[in-house]
Amino acid sequence: MSDYQDILVETPRAGVQLLTLNRPKARNALRTRTLAEIAGALDRADGDNDIRVCVITGGPEVFAAGADIKEMAGTSAVEVMNDPRQAHRRRIDQFSKPFIAAVNGYALGGGCELAMQADIVIAGETARFGQPEINLGIIPGAGGTQRLIRAVGKSLAMKMVLSGGMIDAPAALAAGLVAEITPPELTIEKALELAGVIADKPPIAVRLAKDAMVKSFEQSLGAGLDYERKAFTLLAATEDRNEGLTAFMEKRRPRFSGR
Ligand code: CAA
Repeated sequence: MSDYQDILVETPRAGVQLLTLNRPKARNALRTRTLAEIAGALDRADGDNDIRVCVITGGPEVFAAGADIKEMAGTSAVEVMNDPRQAHRRRIDQFSKPFIAAVNGYALGGGCELAMQADIVIAGETARFGQPEINLGIIPGAGGTQRLIRAVGKSLAMKMVLSGGMIDAPAALAAGLVAEITPPELTIEKALELAGVIADKPPIAVRLAKDAMVKSFEQSLGAGLDYERKAFTLLAATEDRNEGLTAFMEKRRPRFSGR
């Protein structure tokens, strides 16, 4: 997809791509097209060696108010079963580079689920997270019942999903749903700053570190430790590992080439 309608795609600093959800009148509700555009942009970023990290934001006011309820209304069970949104969500999950969410305002339903698809969440003090699907007679359908419980633990996740209630930014920080909270006017800048720091790291090591950590959610400790060791061994074959160790010993900054 070359022309974006629902998102803005920019490269605000070297190695960092910024995706901004751009349907403010609909509170950035995630219609199918929006998810397709996010998935398409990440797909392209994955194949672009000049992009090392992606940041997604909804801008200064709202992250995303969830799936587009107006689009969802009236769909049959068969249509829901064949919904292309699932493939777009899977593509987002498969993004191999670091993915940071910069959240201001509401991150609800599918919006909270999108934030949880990110590897790191930076939240403005105005951020509010929730899975209000229960109020609509449905349940979270893009990972909320699985990822929230892993992010914040059973009791708080059950409270949020079963009551439909929201938590604010300090509660999200305390629960581990977000890595950092900032004044809202700095959220995107902080996320870009962090993205810049990560973009300067050796990209193969970054990719394998992310991959190993993502795997920790999907497999046993033994299999995860085994995978980590293999990835660690693989890195011994990279020029960047040699450069990193040598630069330390020569007391200089490393120059990573991505090889
Ligand atoms: N889908 C479609 N349109 C939405 C929307 C959504 N999720 N959320 C807000 N909008 C629209 C409103 O319909 C309204 O449109 P109109 O101007 O045409 O009437 C516009 O955005 C502004 O909305 P509000 O006037 O309600 O704005 P607000 O600032 O007072 O409140 C809000 C914001 C708290 C986010 C409120 O809009 C809200 O509760 N939205 C719904 C949240 C929700 O239930 N999300 C879960 C969706 S289901 C889901 O996500 C399933 C899944 O797991 C994949």
